[in-house]
Amino acid sequence: MTDIAKRVVDGLYGLRDWVDARFPLMKSWNEHLAKYYAPKNFNFWYFFGSLALLVLVIQILTGIWLTMNYQPSDEGAFASVEYIMRDVSWGWFIRYMHSTGASAFFVVIYLHMFRALLYGSYKKPRELLWLSGMAIYLVLMAEAFFGYLLPWGQMSYWGAQVIISLFGALPFIGEELSLWIRGDFVVSGVTLNRFFSLHVIAFPLLICALVGFHILALHEVGSNNPDGIEIKKNKNEQGIPVDGIPFHPYYTVKDILGVVVFLILFFGVVFFAPEMKVPGTQGLFLESANFIPADPLKTPEHIAPVWYFTPFYAILRAVPSQLGGVIAMGLATNLFLLLPWLDRSPVRSWRYRGWNYRCALIAFIISFLCLGWLGLQVATPLYTWMSRFFSVIYFLFFFLMPFYTAIDNDKAVPERVTG
Ligand code: HEM
Repeated sequence: MTDIAKRVVDGLYGLRDWVDARFPLMKSWNEHLAKYYAPKNFNFWYFFGSLALLVLVIQILTGIWLTMNYQPSDEGAFASVEYIMRDVSWGWFIRYMHSTGASAFFVVIYLHMFRALLYGSYKKPRELLWLSGMAIYLVLMAEAFFGYLLPWGQMSYWGAQVIISLFGALPFIGEELSLWIRGDFVVSGVTLNRFFSLHVIAFPLLICALVGFHILALHEVGSNNPDGIEIKKNKNEQGIPVDGIPFHPYYTVKDILGVVVFLILFFGVVFFAPEMKVPGTQGLFLESANFIPADPLKTPEHIAPVWYFTPFYAILRAVPSQLGGVIAMGLATNLFLLLPWLDRSPVRSWRYRGWNYRCALIAFIISFLCLGWLGLQVATPLYTWMSRFFSVIYFLFFFLMPFYTAIDNDKAVPERVTG
């Protein structure tokens, strides 16, 4: 090392020590990265937590730049988005990153949640971690819903109109509640203004706070793993779990691989298929009706929410009464909160579970995917009956869980993690 380089390095160490004497810099680094011992058998399913963090950062950064040119008013909103797309330098790129990011967020989050179902990561002592994840998920749904109104296209307008008027089905308070949410008798510039403020500041702040809570809760109890074994139960003389490895550098390197692959796929969509016009759809990520300015006097022929809401939308449509549909939809989204208490099996991981849980999970995933597809279709009698069938399976997964998990023929769980 040359003399100058050595002085620079010494200076940097000096600066670090200076900060460290006044702020827990190295303590936090060690606690959360260099000396955070994670199970050594993380697999593919463990990429999605760090990817969710990445997408959160992408959404916040692109959102800040979009806000610089977006106008939150009923006269200006649609035109300002067109202005961003056509005239602002790189505006189209930032906008497509943000719209693709919204869908990518849900892809990543659904896979992240599926992993928890696969390996029983919601079970004791990770209940609070799970509940904080669910809070993030619910807030994220609201965040996406508010954001979708902002381009002020036909689908933004009518989607919001349909969803807000659902609250009107609630007894006694319904009408007042939907009026309160809209701030007007129909979706209007007033609604747009409040959705803008919630989308741009209130909910992002809430999500960041919840993510902070989520990571702290995770690091308190430690990560689960594909074997569902508690690695803290088996420590060496130094108090380090024998099946654990430091998060940094081992998993930082692994996660960088996930980030690279994710970004290749993500930018593939941003550049080549930002609307995601899968045959049979009007665009999964950006619907074609949303390229037409909002017209309060003209209802589009077919109103369908964006794909990540469609399983719940299919459940809503499957129930004949509107109130029943709203209750079923609310239940379907919130039942996950109860999983730590509904699941009676002593075994966490799918690897050592009996066939009851395995079959139930497979049936649940199939019904979730089918409901997602059905929610995108125009409702015909056949599709409505299919939605009813899959909704029943969806709910039985939760309602029967205390029974089929209690009597499952689980296998013996090994003492140490396997490969
Ligand atoms: C912005 C959204 C989210 C972020 C940034 C995030 C971040 C993370 C990170 C970094 C991890 C550790 C790495 C990993 O296990 O993959 C993790 C673990 C976990 N997350 Fe999330 N998460 C989010 C949303 C959710 C949601 C919606 C749920 C469930 C409803 C959830 C449930 C869990 C659980 C149970 C674990 C522990 C998994 C295990 O150890 O097996 N998270 N999360």
